[in-house]
Amino acid sequence: MKIILTGDRPTGKLHLGHYVGSLCERVKLQNSNQFDEIYIMIADAQALTDNFSNPELVRENILNVALDYLGAGLDPKKSTIFIQSQVAELFELTAYYMNLVTVSRLERNPTVKAEIALKNFEASIPAGFLCYPISQAADITAFDATTVPVGEDQTPMLEQTREIVRKFNDIYGNGEQILIEPDILLPTNEICKRLPGIDGKAKMSKSLGNCIYLCDSCDEVAKKIQMMYTDPTHIKVSDPGHIEGNVVFTYLDAFCKDVETVADMKEHYQRGGLGDVKVKKFLQSVLEEILIPIRQRRNQFENDPTEVMNMLKIGTEKAREKAAQVLSRVKHAMRIDYFK
Ligand code: TRP
Repeated sequence: MKIILTGDRPTGKLHLGHYVGSLCERVKLQNSNQFDEIYIMIADAQALTDNFSNPELVRENILNVALDYLGAGLDPKKSTIFIQSQVAELFELTAYYMNLVTVSRLERNPTVKAEIALKNFEASIPAGFLCYPISQAADITAFDATTVPVGEDQTPMLEQTREIVRKFNDIYGNGEQILIEPDILLPTNEICKRLPGIDGKAKMSKSLGNCIYLCDSCDEVAKKIQMMYTDPTHIKVSDPGHIEGNVVFTYLDAFCKDVETVADMKEHYQRGGLGDVKVKKFLQSVLEEILIPIRQRRNQFENDPTEVMNMLKIGTEKAREKAAQVLSRVKHAMRIDYFK
């Protein structure tokens, strides 16, 4: 069996960075028909570990993320889309896995460590936050996931999950693989791993305000492209320009399938005689080709939020059934299935 599980924290609308970094790949995996089951989780409980005082933000973004999923082409007939907090089995698994992990190991998790510094949690780390890698191990193992397509920043989470799986199987398995050890599936294209923001900063991120969102209108996208960071030394059209750090060209590399045209444009730009406005217009046409169908699908579903919530409800019920089967296997292995 080949099973995918992955997900996102619902703390904002999804942007082009999410699209090239993961969404687009997920849709491809979905349509490859190489997987027996695909689970896509809206990780609201994990989002609450550092947004517990702002539950409204998390609630609002459940629908936003679901709409972005559907817009990007995830199909609920092929991918089970569900809400983490509504699958109680995940929390039960988390509790049992907690026994298998030390506090110092959690504190050494590089992603957790970086986030603790970023959020100034050093003085007092919420226990829920410190333990989120354990809950992530529950998310993954509860579905017998073999394949977890995520960004590079999630590598430490997968390592920790694999450790938990090994330890669990070692202690409770009696020579059997009760839990499945998952593989990480990383994006292969370098640019797609980390798309810069329109301001040229290393990362497209909501907090930096440098995003193009999947739900942005054609006009909004055009405006953002106009504002895009290019080459400050390229003043007159005839001046030779630089493509290194020039976001317009970085985006062309990430989004334009016509590699030859992009190579010609780069050459022309560096030689001098190609204006930024022209390159930006071209980028706009490239992005719109991708965004128009996404926007259309998104708008269609946006008109029927009840239907989208219903889709999530059905997905969540299906996810729960699967997680319950795995939990029952886990409890049997742990010798705590007293009433069976
Ligand atoms: N940590 C992931 C993120 O921040 C979201 C997530 C939660 C996840 N549980 C998961 C991803 C399980 C993959 C598998 O984007």
